[in-house]
Amino acid sequence: MKKSIIIILILLCVNLILYGIVLAQYKTEASKEKTMFIRASGRDIWDYLKKMDYAKKWKMWPGKGAFYKGKEPHGALLTTYVNDSAYMAITEKKGILPEGAIVAKENYSPDKKLMAITVMYKLKGYNPQRGDWFWAKYLSNGKIEGEGKMDMCINCHSMEEYNDYIMTSSLK
Ligand code: HEC
Repeated sequence: MKKSIIIILILLCVNLILYGIVLAQYKTEASKEKTMFIRASGRDIWDYLKKMDYAKKWKMWPGKGAFYKGKEPHGALLTTYVNDSAYMAITEKKGILPEGAIVAKENYSPDKKLMAITVMYKLKGYNPQRGDWFWAKYLSNGKIEGEGKMDMCINCHSMEEYNDYIMTSSLK
Protein backbone atom coordinates (compact mmCIF):
# COMPACT_ATOMS: atom_id res chain seq x y z
CA MET A 1 0.00 0.00 0.00
CA LYS A 2 2.76 2.40 1.04
CA LYS A 3 4.69 1.55 -2.08
CA SER A 4 1.84 2.44 -4.40
CA ILE A 5 1.37 5.81 -2.68
CA ILE A 6 5.06 6.56 -3.22
CA ILE A 7 4.78 5.58 -6.89
CA ILE A 8 1.75 7.82 -7.33
CA LEU A 9 3.61 10.70 -5.69
CA ILE A 10 6.61 10.18 -7.97
CA LEU A 11 4.35 10.09 -11.03
CA LEU A 12 2.68 13.30 -9.90
CA CYS A 13 6.08 15.00 -9.51
CA VAL A 14 7.20 13.89 -12.97
CA ASN A 15 3.95 15.18 -14.42
CA LEU A 16 4.38 18.54 -12.75
CA ILE A 17 7.95 18.86 -14.06
CA LEU A 18 6.85 17.97 -17.61
CA TYR A 19 4.01 20.46 -17.39
CA GLY A 20 6.50 23.13 -16.27
CA ILE A 21 8.79 22.42 -19.20
CA VAL A 22 5.92 22.63 -21.71
CA LEU A 23 4.67 25.87 -20.17
CA ALA A 24 8.14 27.46 -20.26
CA GLN A 25 8.53 26.54 -23.92
CA TYR A 26 5.11 27.91 -24.77
CA LYS A 27 5.97 31.16 -23.03
CA THR A 28 9.25 31.68 -24.90
CA GLU A 29 7.48 30.93 -28.20
CA ALA A 30 4.82 33.51 -27.39
CA SER A 31 7.36 36.19 -26.48
CA LYS A 32 9.35 35.43 -29.64
CA GLU A 33 6.24 36.09 -31.67
CA LYS A 34 5.65 39.32 -29.81
CA THR A 35 9.06 40.73 -30.68
CA MET A 36 9.01 39.61 -34.32
CA PHE A 37 8.40 42.99 -35.91
CA ILE A 38 9.71 43.91 -39.34
CA ARG A 39 12.88 45.98 -39.37
CA ALA A 40 12.66 49.67 -40.17
CA SER A 41 13.63 49.08 -43.78
CA GLY A 42 11.71 50.13 -46.87
CA ARG A 43 12.76 46.98 -48.69
CA ASP A 44 11.78 44.63 -45.85
CA ILE A 45 8.39 46.29 -45.51
CA TRP A 46 7.72 46.03 -49.25
CA ASP A 47 8.72 42.35 -49.24
CA TYR A 48 6.42 41.77 -46.28
CA LEU A 49 3.50 43.52 -47.99
CA LYS A 50 3.98 41.36 -51.09
CA LYS A 51 4.33 38.19 -49.01
CA MET A 52 1.12 39.02 -47.15
CA ASP A 53 -0.63 39.74 -50.47
CA TYR A 54 -2.07 42.77 -48.68
CA ALA A 55 -4.28 43.97 -51.54
CA LYS A 56 -6.17 40.66 -51.50
CA LYS A 57 -5.94 39.55 -47.89
CA TRP A 58 -6.03 42.72 -45.78
CA LYS A 59 -9.10 44.74 -44.96
CA MET A 60 -9.60 48.23 -46.28
CA TRP A 61 -9.63 51.20 -43.91
CA PRO A 62 -12.88 50.94 -41.91
CA GLY A 63 -15.57 52.92 -43.68
CA LYS A 64 -13.53 53.42 -46.85
CA GLY A 65 -14.01 51.38 -49.97
CA ALA A 66 -11.83 51.07 -53.06
CA PHE A 67 -11.01 54.25 -55.01
CA TYR A 68 -12.31 56.86 -52.59
CA LYS A 69 -11.54 60.48 -53.32
CA GLY A 70 -8.17 61.72 -52.02
CA LYS A 71 -6.53 65.07 -51.49
CA GLU A 72 -3.17 66.51 -52.48
CA PRO A 73 -0.49 65.21 -52.43
CA HIS A 74 -1.61 61.62 -52.46
CA GLY A 75 -3.71 61.23 -55.54
CA ALA A 76 -7.16 61.63 -56.98
CA LEU A 77 -8.32 58.17 -55.91
CA LEU A 78 -7.13 56.12 -52.97
CA THR A 79 -7.48 52.57 -51.72
CA THR A 80 -6.12 52.05 -48.22
CA TYR A 81 -5.37 48.69 -46.61
CA VAL A 82 -4.59 48.00 -42.96
CA ASN A 83 -3.23 44.95 -41.17
CA ASP A 84 -5.31 43.26 -38.46
CA SER A 85 -3.85 45.07 -35.45
CA ALA A 86 -4.42 48.44 -37.11
CA TYR A 87 -7.94 47.46 -38.15
CA MET A 88 -8.87 46.46 -34.60
CA ALA A 89 -7.47 49.64 -33.07
CA ILE A 90 -9.37 51.80 -35.58
CA THR A 91 -12.70 50.04 -35.14
CA GLU A 92 -12.32 49.90 -31.35
CA LYS A 93 -11.56 53.65 -31.29
CA LYS A 94 -8.33 53.20 -29.36
CA GLY A 95 -7.10 56.69 -30.24
CA ILE A 96 -3.71 55.34 -31.28
CA LEU A 97 -2.42 52.54 -33.47
CA PRO A 98 -0.36 49.78 -31.81
CA GLU A 99 3.20 48.71 -32.48
CA GLY A 100 3.31 46.62 -35.64
CA ALA A 101 0.41 48.50 -37.24
CA ILE A 102 0.76 48.93 -41.00
CA VAL A 103 -1.24 51.25 -43.23
CA ALA A 104 -0.64 50.78 -46.96
CA LYS A 105 -2.33 53.34 -49.17
CA GLU A 106 -2.48 52.96 -52.94
CA ASN A 107 -2.56 56.27 -54.79
CA TYR A 108 -4.30 56.31 -58.16
CA SER A 109 -4.67 58.83 -60.95
CA PRO A 110 -8.22 59.89 -61.98
CA ASP A 111 -8.21 57.10 -64.59
CA LYS A 112 -7.30 54.53 -61.92
CA LYS A 113 -3.66 54.07 -62.81
CA LEU A 114 -1.62 53.08 -59.75
CA MET A 115 0.89 55.88 -59.26
CA ALA A 116 2.43 55.15 -55.86
CA ILE A 117 2.01 53.30 -52.59
CA THR A 118 2.57 55.21 -49.37
CA VAL A 119 3.04 53.29 -46.16
CA MET A 120 3.10 54.04 -42.45
CA TYR A 121 4.52 51.40 -40.14
CA LYS A 122 4.58 51.76 -36.35
CA LEU A 123 7.71 50.52 -34.62
CA LYS A 124 8.19 51.27 -30.93
CA GLY A 125 11.30 53.33 -30.20
CA TYR A 126 11.87 54.18 -33.85
CA ASN A 127 10.94 57.87 -33.58
CA PRO A 128 9.28 58.49 -30.20
CA GLN A 129 9.01 62.27 -30.67
CA ARG A 130 6.98 61.72 -33.83
CA GLY A 131 4.64 58.87 -33.02
CA ASP A 132 7.14 56.09 -33.81
CA TRP A 133 6.11 56.00 -37.45
CA PHE A 134 8.31 54.68 -40.23
CA TRP A 135 7.30 56.29 -43.55
CA ALA A 136 7.83 54.93 -47.03
CA LYS A 137 6.83 55.77 -50.57
CA TYR A 138 7.04 53.28 -53.43
CA LEU A 139 6.35 53.36 -57.13
CA SER A 140 3.94 50.72 -58.39
CA ASN A 141 6.85 48.41 -59.26
CA GLY A 142 8.19 48.58 -55.70
CA LYS A 143 10.96 51.10 -56.36
CA ILE A 144 11.55 53.07 -53.16
CA GLU A 145 11.01 56.81 -53.61
CA GLY A 146 11.73 57.62 -50.01
CA GLU A 147 11.80 55.96 -46.60
CA GLY A 148 12.41 56.52 -42.92
CA LYS A 149 11.78 59.61 -40.81
CA MET A 150 10.73 61.64 -43.84
CA ASP A 151 10.26 65.32 -42.91
CA MET A 152 8.03 65.87 -45.90
CA CYS A 153 5.50 63.32 -44.68
CA ILE A 154 5.84 64.14 -40.98
CA ASN A 155 5.41 67.91 -41.41
CA CYS A 156 2.04 67.59 -43.08
CA HIS A 157 0.77 64.67 -41.00
CA SER A 158 1.70 66.64 -37.84
CA MET A 159 -1.57 68.49 -38.38
CA GLU A 160 -3.04 65.36 -36.82
CA GLU A 161 -0.37 64.87 -34.18
CA TYR A 162 -3.08 64.25 -31.58
CA ASN A 163 -4.67 61.66 -33.83
CA ASP A 164 -1.45 59.61 -34.00
CA TYR A 165 -0.47 61.44 -37.25
CA ILE A 166 -3.42 59.78 -38.99
CA MET A 167 -5.41 61.87 -41.49
CA THR A 168 -8.00 59.48 -42.89
CA SER A 169 -10.35 59.40 -39.90
CA SER A 170 -10.51 60.15 -36.22
CA LEU A 171 -9.10 57.33 -34.10
CA LYS A 172 -11.22 58.32 -31.08
C1 HEC B 1 0.58 67.97 -47.72
C2 HEC B 1 0.13 67.00 -46.78
C3 HEC B 1 0.62 65.56 -46.84
C4 HEC B 1 1.88 65.09 -47.09
C5 HEC B 1 3.13 65.86 -47.45
C6 HEC B 1 1.81 63.64 -46.94
N1 HEC B 1 0.54 63.26 -46.62
FE1 HEC B 1 -0.09 61.36 -46.25
N2 HEC B 1 -2.01 62.02 -46.03
C7 HEC B 1 -2.42 63.33 -46.17
C8 HEC B 1 -3.87 63.39 -46.16
C9 HEC B 1 -4.73 64.64 -46.28
C10 HEC B 1 -4.30 62.05 -45.99
C11 HEC B 1 -5.76 61.53 -45.95
C12 HEC B 1 -6.11 60.93 -47.29
C13 HEC B 1 -6.44 61.97 -48.32
O1 HEC B 1 -7.47 62.60 -48.18
O2 HEC B 1 -5.65 62.16 -49.25
C14 HEC B 1 -3.10 61.23 -45.89
C15 HEC B 1 -3.12 59.86 -45.66
C16 HEC B 1 -1.99 59.06 -45.58
C17 HEC B 1 -1.98 57.67 -45.24
C18 HEC B 1 -3.19 56.87 -44.77
C19 HEC B 1 -3.18 56.89 -43.24
C20 HEC B 1 -3.47 58.27 -42.68
O3 HEC B 1 -2.55 58.89 -42.11
O4 HEC B 1 -4.59 58.75 -42.80
C21 HEC B 1 -0.70 57.23 -45.37
C22 HEC B 1 -0.20 55.82 -45.16
C23 HEC B 1 0.10 58.35 -45.76
N3 HEC B 1 -0.70 59.48 -45.89
C24 HEC B 1 1.47 58.30 -45.99
C25 HEC B 1 2.24 59.39 -46.33
C26 HEC B 1 3.66 59.31 -46.64
C27 HEC B 1 4.50 58.05 -46.60
C28 HEC B 1 4.06 60.58 -46.96
C29 HEC B 1 5.43 61.05 -47.39
C30 HEC B 1 6.04 60.37 -48.51
C31 HEC B 1 2.89 61.45 -46.85
N4 HEC B 1 1.81 60.69 -46.46
C32 HEC B 1 2.90 62.80 -47.10
C33 HEC B 1 -1.60 64.43 -46.30
C34 HEC B 1 -0.24 64.39 -46.56
